[in-house]
Amino acid sequence: MTKTKVGILYGGRSVEHGVSVNSARNIEMYIDRDKFDTQCIGISRSGIWYATERVDKNIESGRKLKLQMDPTKPVFEDEDGNQMTIDVAFPVLHGTDGEDGSIQGLLKALDIPMVGTGVLGSSVSMSKLVAKQLMQQAGIPVTKFLFYRHDEKDKINFDHVARELGVPFMVKAANLGSSVGVSKVKGKEDFQAALDDSFKYDSCVLIEEFVTGREIECAVLGNNPPLASLPGEIKVNPTYEFYTFDAKYVDGEAVKIEVPAELDESSRESIRDISIKAYQQLQCEDFARVDLFLDKNGNIYVNEINTIPGFTNSSMYPMMWKERGVSFTELITKLVELGKERFEAAKRIEKDFQSSLKF
Ligand SMILES: Nc1ncnc2c1ncn2[C@@H]1O[C@H](COP(=O)(O)OP(=O)(O)O)[C@@H](O)[C@H]1O
Ligand SMILES: [Mg+2]
Repeated sequence: MTKTKVGILYGGRSVEHGVSVNSARNIEMYIDRDKFDTQCIGISRSGIWYATERVDKNIESGRKLKLQMDPTKPVFEDEDGNQMTIDVAFPVLHGTDGEDGSIQGLLKALDIPMVGTGVLGSSVSMSKLVAKQLMQQAGIPVTKFLFYRHDEKDKINFDHVARELGVPFMVKAANLGSSVGVSKVKGKEDFQAALDDSFKYDSCVLIEEFVTGREIECAVLGNNPPLASLPGEIKVNPTYEFYTFDAKYVDGEAVKIEVPAELDESSRESIRDISIKAYQQLQCEDFARVDLFLDKNGNIYVNEINTIPGFTNSSMYPMMWKERGVSFTELITKLVELGKERFEAAKRIEKDFQSSLKF
């Protein structure tokens, strides 16, 4: 049996570059070598693509890659002229470019099968604003929010925001992840710095009502129909105001993860149900992690969907499937298979239209 060659795409031009390297290292480590070969493809912080022997944080030590924009020929060529093909791409990229549909669009145009959500679902899920608007439309509960573009920044008024959303509230860059550009505002004195920080990373800022409650995550897998894991919980040490970048990746003591979360049956089933609805509404494919809040009155809010959740040692997505009896290795196999199946199924769709149009 010939093995499927999986291109592990990692790194990327994103504030989550380092997280992606850690995730990709695990994919490389746990992938089933009886079924798959791998080709690691690192994208440097400046956006240059390299073939690397292994997943390596020194991406630039690899061989620079060129892309041939021709779906019928080997697609990648290194600086020595060696050509290289992959059977399926696994973008293990978080944030800008990798998770927002840009690279998905590139792979689609090159006719390369790929694991995970396509262009549309990636870009709508990446935008915290568009995702919230779409979820609201489908009756999926989300927190109250306001949003402002950079050219409106001088019109943003603390008293207005406080009246609409109460205090504290959250200020976020609309299209980032890993809590970069996210602040909790407890009073007027924090407001400007929070806005400046968010606008530093984005041209649109979202301001949200603060939910005092538990942080719950649910892993969704598959397409027809998608399945939801049992939810897990992130218990952030109260010395942190919220689940910050440091709490996520730097301070090993900051959080306690509970899988499955301790929930009564009705909350648990509502969370699973809402997670699948959000996944479908946001056009997700193959896999995604849905992040929610549960307040003390039992209200559930979807906070966001991550179309390429982390696969680091402390990442919830693989942990939640492990709890359901799916090992890391089986999960990767399933994801690659889902990507391949979807690619085959999409061939059914006619790309040409025969007509008498002259051109
Ligand atoms: N509306 C909110 N109420 C309370 N806490 C929030 C709210 N929005 C975000 N947070 C906190 O900030 C963290 C990061 O925000 P999130 O929207 O998930 O951004 P990211 O994509 O960077 O993870 C959340 O995990 C949570 O701890
Ligand atoms: Mg989050």
